[in-house]
Amino acid sequence: MEESDSVPLFSFGVIADIQYADIEDGFNFTRTRQRFYRSSLELLERAQKHWSEETPRPRFVLQLGDLIDGFNRIHEASEKALDTVLSRLSPGPADIPVHHVWGNHEFYNFNRTFLLQSRLNSTPMSAQDQHLLTVSPGSDTHAYHFSPEPGFRFVVLDAYDESLLGRDECSAEYQRALEMIRVHNQNQDLNCPPESGFLQKRFTKFNGGLGGDQLTWLQAVLTLADRQQGRVVVVSHLPVHLGSTDPMCLAWNYDKVLELLSSHSSVVCFLAGHDHDGGYCLDPETGVHHVTLEGVIETAPESDAFGTVYVYEDRMVLKGRGRVQDRTLMFLS
Ligand SMILES: *[C@@H]1O[C@H](CO)[C@@H](O)[C@H](O)[C@H]1NC(C)=O
Ligand SMILES: *[C@@H]1O[C@H](CO)[C@@H](O)[C@H](O)[C@H]1NC(C)=O
Ligand SMILES: [Zn+2]
Repeated sequence: MEESDSVPLFSFGVIADIQYADIEDGFNFTRTRQRFYRSSLELLERAQKHWSEETPRPRFVLQLGDLIDGFNRIHEASEKALDTVLSRLSPGPADIPVHHVWGNHEFYNFNRTFLLQSRLNSTPMSAQDQHLLTVSPGSDTHAYHFSPEPGFRFVVLDAYDESLLGRDECSAEYQRALEMIRVHNQNQDLNCPPESGFLQKRFTKFNGGLGGDQLTWLQAVLTLADRQQGRVVVVSHLPVHLGSTDPMCLAWNYDKVLELLSSHSSVVCFLAGHDHDGGYCLDPETGVHHVTLEGVIETAPESDAFGTVYVYEDRMVLKGRGRVQDRTLMFLS
């Protein structure tokens, strides 16, 4: 390897599913996995400390969604928990910028109007009029793109654009989502996956999908990146490839998203959270790496769950800490 080759162009931090709450430890839905609600804050502190001490420092951090747990809502502690977590993630103005992805737990705590006005709206402000920056001017979808380095672009998706979460029950969006889920899931409790069908398990209330406008926008952003021969990393709370997740955690219209990604040579990686066990696959047809990051909330207090990704001309190297595995992601296109 050439000497110059070993110096990355830039790096960024990754962390998923912190789900902090000031409550006793609990379990996941099937009561098989422990959840460490309080110590998730200490794991976040260790991640932040690590990133801030790296030289050179990561350019930004991708927070892959579910920053605070839904239990905060019933304790009327949502805003307090959010302040607590954000004070650890970015304690001062000189800190590493954070890009926030919205997950189901964001919507258990807050509505879209609140989120858009909160610090969880990480849409770049300085480039408000940038071409195709967001789905449309005034859209309430939290989806945008940014380029931290010439030739590289990150696209943040809003996987709950079509969902029962975060939408008013009277809205057309909510009714559309209800119709879509009801076709596959007749359970009283829509958080219970349907019994029949393997892929149908994704039709639950804690998942969602990309709406038509967001898909059209994504298509346009990727077309532009193809033309500029850039490399694109797509970021979403929900995974879209069966090889990288339990089917219960897939986005409702994962197939549409995959089809779209496959028609754009610029896409090199899809990063997601939500499935706390994590996962990985290389899509053999497209050469896209699908990485689902192991979640902080189901990581033992003495371990860790975060990583730094070092980006080179020909690859990205994920250096995982604790439960997050190391991976070399070669650019194949
Ligand atoms: C709970 O954890 C188990 C692994 O022990 C996993 O198979 C299951 O899907 C999880 N359930 C939920 C609802 O997260
Ligand atoms: C959204 O939440 C905020 C703060 O909790 C509340 O004041 C507002 O009325 C809500 N808006 C809608 C449309 O529900
Ligand atoms: Zn989630």
